[in-house]
Amino acid sequence: MKPLHNKSIIITGGAGGIGMATARMFLDEGGKDVLLVDKNKNALDEAKKELNNPGVHCFVADITVADEVKAYTDKAVELFGKLDVVFLNAGYEGVVKPLTEYPEDIFDKVLDINVKGVWLGLKYAFPHMQKSGGSIIITSSVAGLTGTAQMMAYTTSKHAVIGTMRVAALEGAPYKIRVNSVHPGPVDNRMMRSLEEGFAPGAGGEVKKGFESQIPLGRYATNEDIASMVTFLASDKSKYITGSIHVVDGGFVI
Ligand SMILES: NC(=O)c1ccc[n+]([C@@H]2O[C@H](COP(=O)([O-])OP(=O)(O)OC[C@H]3O[C@@H](n4cnc5c(N)ncnc54)[C@H](O)[C@@H]3O)[C@@H](O)[C@H]2O)c1
Repeated sequence: MKPLHNKSIIITGGAGGIGMATARMFLDEGGKDVLLVDKNKNALDEAKKELNNPGVHCFVADITVADEVKAYTDKAVELFGKLDVVFLNAGYEGVVKPLTEYPEDIFDKVLDINVKGVWLGLKYAFPHMQKSGGSIIITSSVAGLTGTAQMMAYTTSKHAVIGTMRVAALEGAPYKIRVNSVHPGPVDNRMMRSLEEGFAPGAGGEVKKGFESQIPLGRYATNEDIASMVTFLASDKSKYITGSIHVVDGGFVI
């Protein structure tokens, strides 16, 4: 039997690079149902077309709005009859600016999406998962473990969700709800293109080379490298793992 046999999952940021790769791997590993949640409707439509699997459902929601989070969670339970795995993965990088120039509205937006959106996801998933347990995975970053100059809001937010994850792991344990965080290093996708451009407008390729030279395994992660860790944490192969930080970075933070 495949490791994710018959399991169901909610993936926020489901139309993005890591979210979509995880959906694909989840289904390949035996998963039955996926609810992709994203605020970008066009990207969700594309993702559904590309995944081309009857188990894939989509829900347009802003994860910073409580009613919308409750709605996507309730929809998943209505569709699947249960909730085994929740991947709280939607995120926003903000901008690259010295802290003295960092725009207050962008700071608030990054914290809203990357921290409040995760807490709301937990808040509405817990009551369903308290019945039969499950696995919740939160996407932090290597930016949750180390500092990066000019990335105040993102770094703050990705440190913060480690605390979020630990509290949820403690409160979930009596119900057999496991909660872990995943910490990708630079991933070869849209978000890194945006950050590379932010660090050196017009010379993003040079920034990429600079990052790669600091990664012992010599390359950025692929979306699938991150999805592999998420599917492991989603499966019962990780059934004794909770409250833990899981770094997938080719050795970047060594
Ligand atoms: N790409 C990287 O190098 C990298 C590294 C470390 C961590 N991460 C984290 O991985 C996660 C996934 O990012 P990705 O790399 O796939 O980038 P991505 O931009 O492709 O995906 C992020 C998705 O989140 C969605 N989203 C943003 N705000 C939302 C909101 N308010 N409501 C609903 N959906 C919203 C976006 O529409 C997008 O589809 C993020 O939490 C990101 O911070 C990424």
